Amino acid sequence: MWWERFYDDLGPAVDRIFASQHSLTEPEVDFAVRALGLRPPALVLDLACGTGRHSLALAQRGFQVVGIDRSRPQLDAARAKADAAKLKVGWVEADLRRLPDLPPADAAICFFNSWGYFLEDRDNRAVLTQVRARLQPGAGLLLDTLHADWWTQQGGRTRAYVTGGAGVTEDLAYDGERRLLHARWRVRLDGRLLGTYIIHQRLYRPPEIRLRLQDAGFRVTGVYGDLEGGRTRPWSPRAIWVAAAAPVRTRPHPA
Ligand SMILES: C[S@@+](CC[C@H](N)C(=O)[O-])C[C@H]1O[C@@H](n2cnc3c(N)ncnc32)[C@H](O)[C@@H]1O
Repeated sequence: MWWERFYDDLGPAVDRIFASQHSLTEPEVDFAVRALGLRPPALVLDLACGTGRHSLALAQRGFQVVGIDRSRPQLDAARAKADAAKLKVGWVEADLRRLPDLPPADAAICFFNSWGYFLEDRDNRAVLTQVRARLQPGAGLLLDTLHADWWTQQGGRTRAYVTGGAGVTEDLAYDGERRLLHARWRVRLDGRLLGTYIIHQRLYRPPEIRLRLQDAGFRVTGVYGDLEGGRTRPWSPRAIWVAAAAPVRTRPHPA
């Protein structure tokens, strides 16, 4: 899968390639705290935490945090930053489709379109079900997704940019039949070509995400197009879902 090679190869360099995300971290955490009604020392799971932008910011604010990611190089980078800042965060190396036992959490966040990586719908659904099972009833989930209505229009777009000493050329193509957004990324780092990566992400329209959240045992409380709490509009690149873990339904015990 592309995401294994991409994130393992890049390791801490993702912080340079995605340098533009760093100015969003505090506003994103402000949004999450507000939207999920969080108060320290609530326990928050940071799903697909990468190098720990949000985990660290939450720990700084007094939250208990468990950052979860399958990429060891990403987690090593996150741990190094936490150690340097003397912040306590639990790091768990796991695939989101198969989470280990964890203490029931008060909330989970998943920022920067890290859901929908799997080609099979059942895998993307499994992530939501696994997360629901690690949350207290009533706990909140924030799922920051690509807004399909906008991204399906981006096929054919090419852009090149330089950030943090890294040069990225990105070509986008949308495959409407398989509903996959493809991106070809050529990444140069410190003047040498690090690699060419083909990335795919499955695009779900908002009603489909709502249904998948409900099927996994969540009640959607809001969907937003920006961090100011505005509605998702046709021109919003992101759709940020806020949901609550519905109580687990128990069957009456047979008499
Ligand atoms: C776009 S980065 C987002 C990182 C972080 N949430 C942020 O906002 O900076 C996506 C992350 O998802 C992780 N990831 C991809 N597939 C995964 C999987 N199946 N299970 C767990 N983590 C995964 C990658 O290793 C990577 O760190």
